[in-house]
Amino acid sequence: MSNITFADCGGPFELTAAHTISSWESQPTTGAEAAVTAFLQQWPQLYTGKRVLHVGVGNCSLPAALADDLAAYVGLTISLPEKRLFEEKFAATEHMRVLLTNKYDPRDYSRIEGFFDLIIDVNLKSFACCEKHFNQLIALCNERLKSGATLITAESGVLWGWPGNTKMAYTPGARLDPSLAEDRVLGLDGLERLSRSFGLDLTCVVPAIRDAPDAMDKLWLLRKA
Ligand SMILES: C[S@@+](CC[C@H](N)C(=O)[O-])C[C@H]1O[C@@H](n2cnc3c(N)ncnc32)[C@H](O)[C@@H]1O
Repeated sequence: MSNITFADCGGPFELTAAHTISSWESQPTTGAEAAVTAFLQQWPQLYTGKRVLHVGVGNCSLPAALADDLAAYVGLTISLPEKRLFEEKFAATEHMRVLLTNKYDPRDYSRIEGFFDLIIDVNLKSFACCEKHFNQLIALCNERLKSGATLITAESGVLWGWPGNTKMAYTPGARLDPSLAEDRVLGLDGLERLSRSFGLDLTCVVPAIRDAPDAMDKLWLLRKA
C-alpha cells in the first residue's frame, strides 16, 4: 500500500502530453460558469476596466462575454485545445492572455503577472493533486487579490471532486483512485475555514435569470478587505 496520502503528492510534477490532451473546449459552459457570467452582467462595476484572473478558461464563453469591458484578462488552462481555441478567438486582443499551466504548481506562478480585481475559479479544489498544492493555489489567489477585490467560486464546484478520469486533461501528480474524489471536495465547511484563515469576507449570492430563475448555481464570493 502506498504511503503517499492526499496531504502531499510529492510533486509538483511536469505537465506531459497526456495531462494536456483536451478538456472543455467543445463542452457546453457549466451551470457554475453560466451563473458567474450572469452575476457579473448584473454587476458590471465588478469587471468593467478591471484585471481578471480566470482559472479554467473552458470553451471561452466567459472571456467572450466580458472581453470588451476588461482592462486585462489572464486565463489559465491545463488543456492545449482550450489554449488553441482561446488564441484563435482573441488573436487580435492584446489585453486577453491565456497560459497553459497547472494551477497547483507554484513553479508556474511567476508567469502570472500582477494583481487582480477579480479571480474566478468554479473548481477551486476539484482537480487538486493534494492538500499542499491546493493550499499553495489559495495562497496565490489571496496574495494576488488587490484590496477590495473578490474571488468568485460556485457551490457545485465546492461540492465536487475529480474521480480520476484520464480521458480529459488532468493535474500531474493527481492519483487516479476514485476514492480520492472526496478529498478533492472543498465543502462549505472548507470554504468557511479558508475565509477565516485568510481573513476574507464570505458571502453567498444566487444570480437569477429571468426565464429560468431556478437554473442558476449558487455563487460564493470571498472578498479581501
Ligand atoms: C469542468 S472544466 C470547466 C470549464 C469552465 N470553467 C466552465 O465552467 O465551463 C474544468 C476547467 O479547469 C481546467 N483545469 C483542470 N485542471 C486544471 C489544472 N490543474 N490547472 C489549470 N486548469 C485546470 C480545465 O482546463 C478546464 O478549463
